[in-house]
Amino acid sequence: MLTRPLPELPPIYFYDDRGSELFEAITRLEAYYPTRTELGILERSAAALVAEARPRRVVELGSGAGRKIRLLLDAWRAQPPLGGPRTCTMLDVNDLFLQQSVRSLAADYPEIEVDGVLGDFTTDLARLGPGGDRLTVFFAGTVGNLYPDERRAFFRAIAQGMEASDTLLLGVDLVKDVARLEAAYDDPEGVTAEFNRNALRVVNARFGADFAPDAFDHVAFFDRDHAWIELRLRASRAMRVRIPAIELDLDLAAGAEIRTEVSCKFTRASVEAAALEAGLGVDGWFTDPEQLFALALIRRRAA
Ligand code: AVJ
Repeated sequence: MLTRPLPELPPIYFYDDRGSELFEAITRLEAYYPTRTELGILERSAAALVAEARPRRVVELGSGAGRKIRLLLDAWRAQPPLGGPRTCTMLDVNDLFLQQSVRSLAADYPEIEVDGVLGDFTTDLARLGPGGDRLTVFFAGTVGNLYPDERRAFFRAIAQGMEASDTLLLGVDLVKDVARLEAAYDDPEGVTAEFNRNALRVVNARFGADFAPDAFDHVAFFDRDHAWIELRLRASRAMRVRIPAIELDLDLAAGAEIRTEVSCKFTRASVEAAALEAGLGVDGWFTDPEQLFALALIRRRAA
């Protein structure tokens, strides 16, 4: 990947302990609207959502700090006659965040069996077992990190594991004013820049590389054709980076860029099209007054 015309790193490398902390800091930034907007949608719509889905099991993909799922668990609790899920499974690539969120959920929801799966939502869905009376939640717009071909594969894999009684609750960031979008990924505090550069620290630690993170500038822009925000790191000077684990010497000219993330933005129509391709349909659409972000309720289409 580092040898492609535009070298690229997968966004999974953001999320070591430091990167996961930095993402938590991003969620508190004024400019980064998705987290607080999604929380607001959940607060307003949790009762309606849990009336729609009465699963025996809940699964959260890319659960991170595991805060958002609590709004749903609380809403089920508030409607005791109808009953809530018996189990809650969190899947995340960061072990520390996974352990912490499993422990704190287990402590606060003793009526639910909570467990964690250390894994990647692009490769490890099969480890979540068969469907049936299951709600899968995928918050934060993280599905936007997938390229279109990966997204198709993801929807297909989700659809394959879905019974008629199963639901996917999918958070998507919506296409909007470019200035607003770009500001969310280029905060004046420089937290997103640090988060971006942290990917190089992770590559150094995992592959013995010798990237100098401070020699890279943070770049974030909206690509209208692909409807995605793209994050890059731009070399501020010419350099040679050694990556022993893959026997690669990477020569970067001054100004050379490495793509570290795409974060796709959606419309209701583009979510419907992605679902339909996999035999799924959007049964519910929950959004905020400004239409910044949406939660789509997705099920198998009746044959
Ligand atoms: C965690 C993937 C939802 O794409 O907005 C935040 C990651 N990158 N700022 C996003 C991120 C830069 C975030 N997701």
